[in-house]
Order: sequence, then C-alpha cells, then structure tokens
Amino acid sequence: MLEISDVRAGYGAINVLWDVSMQIPEGQLTTIIGPNGAGKTTLLRAIMGLIPLSQGSIRFDGQPVEKTPTWEMLGRGLAMIPEGRMIFKDMSVEENLMLGAFPKAHRAGAQANCERAFEMFPRLKERRRQMAGTLSGGEAQMLAMGRGLMSDPKVLLIDEPSLGLAPVIVNELFDTLQRLKSEGRTIVLVEQNTHKAVAVADHVHLMRGGKVVLSQAARDVDVAELQQRYFAH
Ligand SMILES: Nc1ncnc2c1ncn2[C@@H]1O[C@H](COP(=O)(O)OP(=O)(O)OP(=O)(O)O)[C@@H](O)[C@H]1O
Ligand SMILES: [Mg+2]
Repeated sequence: MLEISDVRAGYGAINVLWDVSMQIPEGQLTTIIGPNGAGKTTLLRAIMGLIPLSQGSIRFDGQPVEKTPTWEMLGRGLAMIPEGRMIFKDMSVEENLMLGAFPKAHRAGAQANCERAFEMFPRLKERRRQMAGTLSGGEAQMLAMGRGLMSDPKVLLIDEPSLGLAPVIVNELFDTLQRLKSEGRTIVLVEQNTHKAVAVADHVHLMRGGKVVLSQAARDVDVAELQQRYFAH
C-alpha cells in the first residue's frame, strides 16, 4: 500500500537517505530499526512530505505522495506520531486530542474518536482536563498515540514510542500496538527496542548510514545475530 522506491532525501545540501526502497503492506506491522543517525526519522519525514525528495518516489495506494502537502496527508489516511511526542504542554489532554482532528474532514468524527481514545487509554480520560505538561512520560506517549488516532488513519507512522519509558509502561505500549494491528491498521514502527519491535512486527527493515541494509520477514529474524552484526561496535 505504501511503496517507497529509490528515495534520496536530506536537509539542504546534506543528503541522508541513499536510494531507500521499501514496501509497506496493508494491515501489517513493519518495523524500521537501526542505530542512532541511521536516517529512520528522516524516512518518516520524507513519507509525510516534511522534507522533499531529491530522487525516487513514494506512492500510497498507487498515487504519488510527493506533491501532497503534509497537512493533506491526514486526509489521505496517513498520520505520524513523532519522536519526542510533541504534545502541547499548556493545553489540556482533551485539547491536545482535538488537535489530531484539526483537518475539516475529521471534525465531525472528533467526539467519537475522542471517546475511542479514552476507551483505549482510560488514564487519559481521568486526566482529560489536566494540562498535558504535567503528564508522566508514559501518559504523554499515550496522549501522542491518542492524538495520532484522532483522524482514524489507515497508516500510522510511529517514531520511537518507547523512548525513556519504564519497562512496565513499555509493555503496555506494545500491547497497544498489538491491538492497533489487530484492528487492521497499517503500522510503521521505528524502534530502538529491537527485541520488542521484532516480536510484534511482520516485516523488519534495518537501516544504517541512510541505507536499508537488511529486509526480512520478522519470523526469520535472529535478533541476537542482528545486534551482534549491526549494533555492536
Ligand atoms: N533538521 C536536520 N538538519 C540537518 N541534519 C539533520 C536534521 N535532522 C537530522 N539530521 C541528520 O540526519 C541524519 C539522520 O538523522 P535521523 O534523525 O533520521 O536518524 P535516526 O535514525 O532517526 O536516529 P535516532 O535513532 O537517533 O532517532 C543524522 O546524521 C542527523 O544529524
Ligand atoms: Mg529518530
């Protein structure tokens, strides 16, 4: 459903992605792993149209997305939950959620989607009027996920959701990912927690130095060997 072909992109004169190709199949969970600076976040930004491509193409449902401005991507069914969560600290939990339904097409469903987010993350409901800046790290990640789901996206791009969270919260987070997957959503998960990411994934792509160096079905991945080969220095 998402087809990334031969993509080069970067920041100004600095190129980061080198001829990246990847297929993201519908209804499955694809994880992108790799060391710091590999270009994982940059690839998600390229998919969302936040940075221009200097080569290659990205197609969604057969249609190129390069010319679609980022604010129209939600309308096309893609949403990103960015690295570092990017929630608005001086706004309440509920107001942050509502921002996820900002595009006109999604406003009508906002109330129902909000209730769905509260059902998925009951702790957010208890704290709906609390300022987002006072949430714990785990609650802030739930809020970022809930906001990403407000437009009821077909494809969800999630960048390092487990970063800085306690192990028990990380487990909850992966339960949530499993649930989103069972709802039939297409998920692209960027993770540093290789073990957990591979366990929940259908497909695994390993990036290094702006290139895809390994693509495998998750069930064929030997995590120990992968870490030995690519993460140990
Ligand atoms: N806004 C920017 N301007 C210039 N260079 C950038 C910018 N953002 C990232 N880079 C560079 O692009 C390269 C890839 O960064 P990217 O954030 O995509 O890596 P990553 O794989 O997501 O790493 P991490 O696991 O640490 O999040 C790095 O060398 C980084 O310094
Ligand atoms: Mg990153």
